[in-house]
Amino acid sequence: MNLIFLGPPGAGKGTHASRLMAQEQIPQISTGDMLRKSIREGTSLGLKAKQFIDAGELVPDEVVIGLVKERLKEADCQKGFILDGFPRTVEQAEALSSFVKIDKVVNIFLADEIILKRLSGRRVCPSCNGTFHVSRLADEKICPDCGKDLIQRKDDQPETIKNRLDVYARQTAPLIAYYQAKGLLVTVPGDGSVDENYQGILKVLGINE
Ligand code: AP5
Repeated sequence: MNLIFLGPPGAGKGTHASRLMAQEQIPQISTGDMLRKSIREGTSLGLKAKQFIDAGELVPDEVVIGLVKERLKEADCQKGFILDGFPRTVEQAEALSSFVKIDKVVNIFLADEIILKRLSGRRVCPSCNGTFHVSRLADEKICPDCGKDLIQRKDDQPETIKNRLDVYARQTAPLIAYYQAKGLLVTVPGDGSVDENYQGILKVLGINE
């Protein structure tokens, strides 16, 4: 199954995509994770992307389109994949449709006030890629999965979160109507517990746990 997870920052795209990846044995392709890895490794792509990510702006279309096009050619994507954070503009969606067929677009819906709370409390593990919320951590500095130090993403500062929400509304939200018109969109609430929201996603996809 070729899937897109769409939704505002903090909707839970990464959390649910990683769970579905483990369950269905298809890769989660997060452009945000790929770009952050390039930044950590100091590649020329990472250097180009850093200024945009830190400011909460979108990285130019041609950069991410090239990245995803190459990734989707890899062997592990041939049985299906979950695109997490791509496409984010109509131009990206048009490019994507020229090189792959999408089966469903899962649109996760969430109000801005909840997003602000979630993202300002998010901690991530740069080692195992785990994502956590401080409210559910015994020690907010240590990864409960691998024991390494947790960090707060630079773009999870309140002012940058507000800008990301604005960018989402202007540049990404038009994809909801775009995919609805193509008959591919399914919408699920993102404001329940992680388990409730995940069950909602399985249901619209017709998958049993
Ligand atoms: P990216 O990494 O894709 O960030 P994002 O879309 O802003 O999404 P987030 O990772 O912030 O949120 P999420 O929906 O995955 O939520 P999560 O599961 O972590 O992109 C970062 C930047 O990279 C962009 O700003 C841009 O600069 C660049 N970029 C990336 N892709 C690009 C593209 N295609 N084009 C151009 N530029 C691009 O959950 C959030 C938190 O909520 C967690 O702490 C989680 O534990 C908690 N939580 C609490 N309750 C729940 C619940 N019920 N469900 C899920 N999570 C919950």
